This record gives sequence, C-alpha cells and structure tokens, in this order.
Amino acid sequence: MKCRKCGGKASVNMRQHKLALCKEHYLEWIPEQTERFIKKYHMFARDERILVAVSGGKDSLSLWDILARLGYQADGLYLGLGIDGGIGYSHESQRLSQKFADENNLKLHVVDIEGEYGHSIPVLSEISHRGHGKPCAVCGLAKRHEMNRIARDLGYDVLATGHNLDDEAAVLFGNTLNWSAEYLLRQGPVLPASDGFARKVKPLCRFYEREMTAYALARGIEYIYDECPFAEGSQQIFYKEALNQLESARPGAKLTFYLKFLEARKSGELFVEKNIEHARLHACPNCGQPTSAPGLCSFCRMVEKAKVETE
Ligand code: AMP
Ligand code: FES
Ligand code: ZN
Ligand code: ZN
Repeated sequence: MKCRKCGGKASVNMRQHKLALCKEHYLEWIPEQTERFIKKYHMFARDERILVAVSGGKDSLSLWDILARLGYQADGLYLGLGIDGGIGYSHESQRLSQKFADENNLKLHVVDIEGEYGHSIPVLSEISHRGHGKPCAVCGLAKRHEMNRIARDLGYDVLATGHNLDDEAAVLFGNTLNWSAEYLLRQGPVLPASDGFARKVKPLCRFYEREMTAYALARGIEYIYDECPFAEGSQQIFYKEALNQLESARPGAKLTFYLKFLEARKSGELFVEKNIEHARLHACPNCGQPTSAPGLCSFCRMVEKAKVETE
C-alpha cells in the first residue's frame, strides 16, 4: 500500500475514505481535516479562548496537540475524579496529562473533585445511590457540571472535548434505539452557548477511534491505554461493538450513520411529518397508480425497458 501524497510506504490505510498515507503525511492530514471541521461547523475562531477537557486518553491529548499546532489558544482542564480501580487510574491519567502539558509548554488547570467537594466520585456515588452501584452516572454528571462551571468562571469562550466518531455513533445509536427526541436534537459537533451554558464543541467527531489511536502513536503522545475501570460492561461499549460489526461488513457505515443524521437534522426532516407532495403526483398512463415520475411510473418504465431489451 502506497501513500497517496508521496508514493512512499503507507502506514495508515483508511478503507472508509479509500485513502492510505505515510506517517508524515498522516500527521499533516489529521490537523488539516480538523481545521476543515472547525470551519465547517463554525466551532470557534482564532481569537477565541478554548478550554480543552483532557482525560489523559489518546483522544483528548491528541485534540490538544492538534489545536496547539493549528495555532489556537487552547488551555487544558483535567478533572481529578479519584478513581483507582486497582490501576491508579486517575493518578496515572493526571500524570500523563501534566507531562504532555509540560513538554509542550501548555497551561493545564487541574481541579480535584474530592478537594472541591470533599468526596471522590466513587464515594459520592455510594452516598447518593445514583446509578445502582456504578459511579458512571455520578461521574458524567460531575464532569458536565465542573467543565461548564470552570469554563465560565475562567472566561473561556468554548469548551472542547475529545469525543470521536465511535463515541458519537454509539451515543446516536443509543438515542435512536430509544427515540430520545430531546437528546437527538441536541447531539452534534457544536452545542451553542445558552443561558448559563458554555458553547461545547467536538472537533474530533468525524474521526474513527482507530484514526485517533494512529495519530497519538505516530505523534509519540504518551497516553493512558486503560479505559476507566468502571466502563467494563457498559451499554456504551456494547453499542460500540455492535457498530464495529456493522463497520467491518460495510466500511464507512459508522460515518454514514452519523453524517446522514446531521444532514437530516439540519434540514429539519427529523421528527417533522413531511408533507408528502401529493400535488405533484399524477396517474401513470399505463397502470393508473400515482407516480411522481414524468410519464410512466418507475415500475412500468422498468417493465417496458425489459420488454424492449429482450425483444
Ligand atoms: P469519556 O466520557 O471518558 O468518553 O470522555 C469524553 C471526553 O470527556 C474526553 O475526550 C475528554 O475531553 C473529557 N474528559 C473525560 N474525562 C475527563 C477528565 N477526568 N478531565 C477532563 N476531561 C475529561
Ligand atoms: Fe467516570 Fe469511569 S466512571 S470515567
Ligand atoms: Zn507520504
Ligand atoms: Zn404505472
């Protein structure tokens, strides 16, 4: 497999884009595409201050790397959740976030939930009895709350998270299975600011997870490989696996699922009973059934054509 740009040996092959690139051109392509998405979805401008939520994982650290390289004013925010899981999960993810910031001369704000509110996430979860033993619901609630509070308190224009296409497609899949209209109408690359809420953006939402892994590895970013120890067996992971099966049979399916959703929502087709245009229908001169095709209906035209071709 050869790099499309230089003909050298390709190191990343993206079947869904029919594109293979060498390491050097891949490291250029990802930021170029990110810039394209930032502009396309009107995420932010160069004079705006961005707060990047970094978890120490490949997506958010890569996002921070890309935005800094593109010349955006991007500071980081790490939230200390106090999750150990036998692997020192929070400790290690904080260490790697701080290391990345130091090595790249970037500013990282660190806010520790236990320090601020007296209890770590697992303890808060136990006390509040939300989420049936798993702290994920409490954790999500605390993260959303704290990210928004800090972005506003510190005067940032926009809050950026590292959600990738696999994350977004899985959330979309879940929301579709439940037909959660409210969530469906809010999901997208940009959630505009509204009374008391900071603008939220997801600049990586069109990159596959494996594309982000390839970027972090090619760039030499040190990130935490482990998932949150509580994520195991989650609904989200189940949806991701289901979508991966679909993707392996039909490369590009995940991207199409997400992009077609964005299109349908933008055009206002979602949840709006479309006024089927009866006015433009007429009776097919051959069979009399209603059709919008000029002249014969599509079926009669097909039968007609088959007749001609077999004569
Ligand atoms: P997750 O919910 O773990 O899939 O993470 C989604 C995004 O939320 C990440 O890409 C980060 O941008 C952000 N995030 C997750 N955990 C943290 C954290 N501890 N501190 C700051 N941001 C986080
Ligand atoms: Fe929050 Fe796992 S419970 S990251
Ligand atoms: Zn190349
Ligand atoms: Zn007909």
